[in-house]
Amino acid sequence: MIGIFDSGIGGLTVVRELMRQMPEYGIIYFGDTARYPYGNKSKQTIERYALEDARFLISKGAKIIVVACNTASAMAIDKLRQEISLPLFEVVAPAVEKALQVTKNKRIGVIGTRGTIKSEIYKNKILEMDARAQVFSKACPLFAPLVEEGWIERAETKRIIKTYVAPLKTKNIDTLILGCTHYPLLKSQIQKKAGKRVVLVDSAQEVVAGIKKFLNDNPGVDKSLTRDAEKSQFYLSDLSDHTQSIASNWLGKRIIFKQGNF
Ligand code: DGL
Repeated sequence: MIGIFDSGIGGLTVVRELMRQMPEYGIIYFGDTARYPYGNKSKQTIERYALEDARFLISKGAKIIVVACNTASAMAIDKLRQEISLPLFEVVAPAVEKALQVTKNKRIGVIGTRGTIKSEIYKNKILEMDARAQVFSKACPLFAPLVEEGWIERAETKRIIKTYVAPLKTKNIDTLILGCTHYPLLKSQIQKKAGKRVVLVDSAQEVVAGIKKFLNDNPGVDKSLTRDAEKSQFYLSDLSDHTQSIASNWLGKRIIFKQGNF
């Protein structure tokens, strides 16, 4: 099984991409809704949570682990690599690679949670790969709660998007990394405020493209994965009717969550 975890249900944007690009694979999803959000928490806490999340997935039969959460990818990937011996995929590096492929003026914007932006992981990785690039970052802590509320088309949300994106626009960026699980759901609104010229890089799409390539190059690992999407299982550490209905809306198909405990 492909194991995926996130701080909550935002990681379903990665599940949606997996279902689109690799529909035959079985998935085990874990969303840590009881401890959501991760975006404002310390590195030490995120490392502990991420390890517990990954171990939960392994206990359910995951053979590879996808860290869908940008905050956990930014803060806990080194810890996970130390402790977990399965193939691990995170969302930062694939988005950085894509951004550097598409940018023409090398002026790249990054948006994410406070934790992700504060970690400077995107900025550091971009500059490591291309020292001539310029990176302009903006924490957008209100986006994830607005998406969780289902306020995607609301006038209030559009105004907040404009407030966050305007300072990046004035920097003349031509590429913008959506560095958070929830932002693909605001993609068309963000595109409108950023302008048509700006290419949006969706980390969910890029991580799945990377997994496909890895499995192609590593047939032994590929063979160990279940090829039956009907066997997919979805766990949350806290179950509520609200998350159940929002999640089914996002995926465009009804999924039944189970209680997942450590
Ligand atoms: N999943 C988180 C991320 O991608 C966003 C929500 C949170 O703050 O936990 O960074």
